Amino acid sequence: MNVSSMENCDFHDKTVLLRVDFNVPVKNGKVHDATRILRALPTIQHLVNASAKVIITSHFGRPKAKNDSLSLKNIVETLSQLLNKKVKFVNDCIGEKVQKAVNEMDKGDVILLENLRFYKGEEQNDSNFAKQLASLADIYVNDAFSCSHRAHASISRITEFLLSYAGFCLQDELKYLEKAISFDAKPITAIVGGAKISTKIKMLIKLAEKVDYLVLGGAIANNFLLFNRVNIGKSFFQSGVEDFLHSVIETANKNNCKIIVPEDALVAVNSDYNTGVLRNTESILDDDVILDIGPKTLSTISSVIASSKTLLWNGPIGVFEHSAFANGTIEVMKTVSSLTHEGKLTSVIGGGDSLSAINAAGLTDKDFTYVSTGGGAFLSWLSGDGMPGVVALQLTSD
Ligand code: 3PG
Repeated sequence: MNVSSMENCDFHDKTVLLRVDFNVPVKNGKVHDATRILRALPTIQHLVNASAKVIITSHFGRPKAKNDSLSLKNIVETLSQLLNKKVKFVNDCIGEKVQKAVNEMDKGDVILLENLRFYKGEEQNDSNFAKQLASLADIYVNDAFSCSHRAHASISRITEFLLSYAGFCLQDELKYLEKAISFDAKPITAIVGGAKISTKIKMLIKLAEKVDYLVLGGAIANNFLLFNRVNIGKSFFQSGVEDFLHSVIETANKNNCKIIVPEDALVAVNSDYNTGVLRNTESILDDDVILDIGPKTLSTISSVIASSKTLLWNGPIGVFEHSAFANGTIEVMKTVSSLTHEGKLTSVIGGGDSLSAINAAGLTDKDFTYVSTGGGAFLSWLSGDGMPGVVALQLTSD
């Protein structure tokens, strides 16, 4: 994909507006998972080493208005530690206060601006807001793949006002995701789990066209079981999606894609989430809540993965947050990572809970071919949707 890489740009003494995604898990004011910050470090370090003045911008959460709990000041300590450099926080992202802080910067300095979404113009992709951001800098770098599916001012509109480049993390994301969906190394298996099927329908249809095995877990699998008239008791599912399920199944049938749903399950009985009771899916009782796969399903999934050359994974297979129901997700993660380390499998994982599931399995992103920082962005990419942030960088590279 043709985006301008920052590698060949001379940043010496230039002021650079760097868009990252520091929308990271924070608990009690402390960063809980720094993966997205770590992924942005090579780009920040490159700019610092090139003697640029680096202005970092990001959104955090989905604020309706200015809100202290969604301030990026919670990130600055972790960022300074990881960068091994004092980063100054400025509690606004446009205007006089920011301009003054920028004027006071020396070469190699880094500042972090306040949450972009405290201004409505950000999400409205507003030209004036983008112009005000752009007026702070000479060059723009986007290293935020995980929000490049948003047509927002700091992602899309801003590229109309500044020379624009792709950062290293964004370039890596494009490289690995393109490789994974080029579908060269067959058989290909896709695992899709998680809670909400409504956000994944388009991706499921796209995958059913391309992959050899579509393995379903989580509440997504419940929807398919119910569609096949299997009793799922009180398990979570989403209603009103039957036509879409029909399209996924029809597409899979047309393209020789085998859909795999659980044959057995661990269920919670009487709301007891501390113990899993094993049932065949044909024997689920009215009060049962399906929360993980059982050993037969695990064995089927493991053999499918062992016979595959490429694996795409989005969303956990069970409710791994409860230890009694974590086995399915953790064991499948371990199988995928072993086969990846043996060089038998190209594994690409992404989506909202993936990083937490990888942590729960005691693994890291180094145990897979590539772990995307994208949640919604990963889904958009696999659904074949255009990504405004990437398109904007392509336009500026032409
Ligand atoms: C994410 O966490 O997936 C990105 O930061 C995008 O956040 P958003 O869905 O609020 O736009």
